[in-house]
Amino acid sequence: AAVEKGNYRHFMQKEIFEQPTVVGQTLGSYLRQSDGTVALPQFDFDLSSVKRITIVACGTSFYAGMVAKYWFEQFARVPVDIDVASEFRYRDPVLEDGGLALFISQSGETADTLAALRHCKEAGQTIAVVVNVPTSSMAREADLLLPTHAGPEIGVASTKAFTCQLAVLAALAANMAVKKGHMDRAEEQEVVRHLFEAPACLNAALGHDEDIEAMAPLIAPARDVLYLGRGPDYPLALEGALKLKEISYIHAEGYASGEMKHGPIALIDEDVPVIVLAPSGPLFEKTVSNMEEVRARGGQIVLISDAEGLAAAGEGCLATIEMPSVHPLIAPLVYAVPVQLLAYHVACVKGTDVDQPRNLAKSVTVE
Ligand code: G6P
Repeated sequence: AAVEKGNYRHFMQKEIFEQPTVVGQTLGSYLRQSDGTVALPQFDFDLSSVKRITIVACGTSFYAGMVAKYWFEQFARVPVDIDVASEFRYRDPVLEDGGLALFISQSGETADTLAALRHCKEAGQTIAVVVNVPTSSMAREADLLLPTHAGPEIGVASTKAFTCQLAVLAALAANMAVKKGHMDRAEEQEVVRHLFEAPACLNAALGHDEDIEAMAPLIAPARDVLYLGRGPDYPLALEGALKLKEISYIHAEGYASGEMKHGPIALIDEDVPVIVLAPSGPLFEKTVSNMEEVRARGGQIVLISDAEGLAAAGEGCLATIEMPSVHPLIAPLVYAVPVQLLAYHVACVKGTDVDQPRNLAKSVTVE
């Protein structure tokens, strides 16, 4: 049956709002709530033997991979290489025996990613694939098939596929950590419990839709926008910038908060809004000092944080967006929502074709 927009104005909007449901479905197929364990699909491969992971993807799927690198390294203590697919093969990567090559793709058909997959297969890597279309080429060619259950994604700019990819990747990282002896039963149960908090937290984030809609006119006139984040929220800054440029055609860059002073700070003036993604926590104070650097140059800040973070640093911002207080593990999923909604509402203010932005394709099957 054809997918309908229902009461939504755009498919992208509908897909953003589906996230609590589809992330819940995806988590439900990898995690067991009854005993708090991660249960991956059956495959004939020993995850405890993995010595290095090579992640390859494009676009939004690449940013999901960047978040996963933090998790694989933190939980499973496995080193991760990550590349965009269009660069990967051409740098003649070193692929050692016993390596796991992990491909992330909504469509399962992106030409560069598929070519990289075949390259890794030839080089004897075990091929794991996180993919949303179960009948796709990548799904067929995988040794370890890890489906996302986002359902059909129609909007060209990826949203729900991204958060579902993160859900699968978190489960995979936790499972590998258990198999490698870096995560005990109690820690596994903790991780599972926090992941199951994600749907409710995504819902809470979606509850701020109207606030974000109300502030979109402040961002729409900008020519350039900067997004800043740290740690696993740094890839979210990159994703936020990508979403904004894809659908609103505003030039945007994502930067690691601490790297701003090495270049992009030269751009800051009152006409360049700076969107800061900063859940409260150990890295928060450092980000606040980066915000001071922006302010000292007349920069306008939009702070996306939880109640604690906003109480500490929200004053004097152009706008603030409140997120629920969440465990750091699920922050990248939850903070995806405000950056998606911000891009969406800015695009609506500008009157662009949200679901079919110019020059972009849902699935890019040329290299
Ligand atoms: C295109 C889409 C993006 C997507 C990228 C990778 O550029 O417009 O939204 O992130 O391809 O697609 P994939 O299907 O491999 O995730």
